[in-house]
Amino acid sequence: MKTLRDVFREALRDMGVESLGALSKRFRKPMDKLQEMALEIINGKGAVFRVPERTLVAWDLEGNRVEGSYYAYAPLCMKDKFEMVLSPEGLLSKLPEWPYFIIDLYHWDRHSQREKGRLCLQVNQSYSVLRRYLTGRELTVTWANDEFRRMFHGPLERITVHEGPTAEFLKENGINEAILLDPWAEKVLSREDFNAKAFIIGGIVDTGGTKRKTTPKIAEEMEGAGIQVHRRKITLKGDVIGVPDRINRILGIVLTMMVEGKPMDEAVYEFQEPRHARWRLRKELPKHAIRYRVDGKLYRVVEKELFDYYSGWLKIRPEDFTKVLRELNLIALEQRRIHHLNKISSPRIMHGKVYRVILLKKAAMLCYNC
Ligand SMILES: C[S@@+](CC[C@H](N)C(=O)[O-])C[C@H]1O[C@@H](n2cnc3c(N)ncnc32)[C@H](O)[C@@H]1O
Repeated sequence: MKTLRDVFREALRDMGVESLGALSKRFRKPMDKLQEMALEIINGKGAVFRVPERTLVAWDLEGNRVEGSYYAYAPLCMKDKFEMVLSPEGLLSKLPEWPYFIIDLYHWDRHSQREKGRLCLQVNQSYSVLRRYLTGRELTVTWANDEFRRMFHGPLERITVHEGPTAEFLKENGINEAILLDPWAEKVLSREDFNAKAFIIGGIVDTGGTKRKTTPKIAEEMEGAGIQVHRRKITLKGDVIGVPDRINRILGIVLTMMVEGKPMDEAVYEFQEPRHARWRLRKELPKHAIRYRVDGKLYRVVEKELFDYYSGWLKIRPEDFTKVLRELNLIALEQRRIHHLNKISSPRIMHGKVYRVILLKKAAMLCYNC
């Protein structure tokens, strides 16, 4: 999928513009210059002008610094001074039909005031995520009541706020099917889904665990209103555990896959926080535990080297590994020590589980060797 940056680049190239300066202090800071200029233009703040003297600084269309240019981004108030070569209307007319990214507030009233505040923040962060690639205008909030409008501190005028149901919004825009991102779905989101005209994320913040399985209810409601809903989940190595569940992060994962073509596991890793990675590690580590009985006492041991393996696809630091070990009452030992323990122990089955038993005398030897 083309980004706004790509569309802007193409428009400049079509006009024979190969580099661009800026007559605005805003662009001195490090940033994605092309994308930021394009955003300013489509928001009616500036345009591209031909300037009589070469600008001091300029960037080529890949964002690399070059010597200077006879073309520059400048605020719209300069339109009487220089010749405008790309206007806001000109760039807007070149934008493709990007899909709608809808945050569905069907469950708004089930939230506490604090959760509603968080929900508004996540909507605002979703707008920023979209602006990294597209314009931000693709964001739509449905079932948006007065309370949402009051509590939302983002740019209401730059997103679409629809008071009614999602189905109503879709029908008004000639859309009769959509993808619903749903952790309870059977099917995993895939490339074939990226042609959809609308992607829906549940506007749900579940701090108290009271809104379990509320996303499928959104599908039921929409299907009742005549929309074909394709429910899709995002997974990390086949499991939803470890996938960040904040709305803006889910949107980030979808966009990274769609625009950058990243595989799902890599996109999830990019948006993961150590907290989400620990959720998954709590599920993974017990699978590797070896049970030892030393002098009647039980020890559950895992290989220390597992940290290297898991940190390859989970965003964990050594302290996260240690935290999870402690929570699960597991001990991590180097592989060579485990081999030694296995040599001096013998397997027994007790209550249907395999234990490696080390006799007291051997345990003493073990301590001596340590
Ligand atoms: C905090 S989650 C709410 C989940 C809700 N408690 C439930 O059990 O249905 C907010 C939204 O993020 C999206 N989401 C979260 N995790 C997801 C996953 N693994 N796959 C797809 N969508 C997900 C869904 O659209 C969901 O409605």
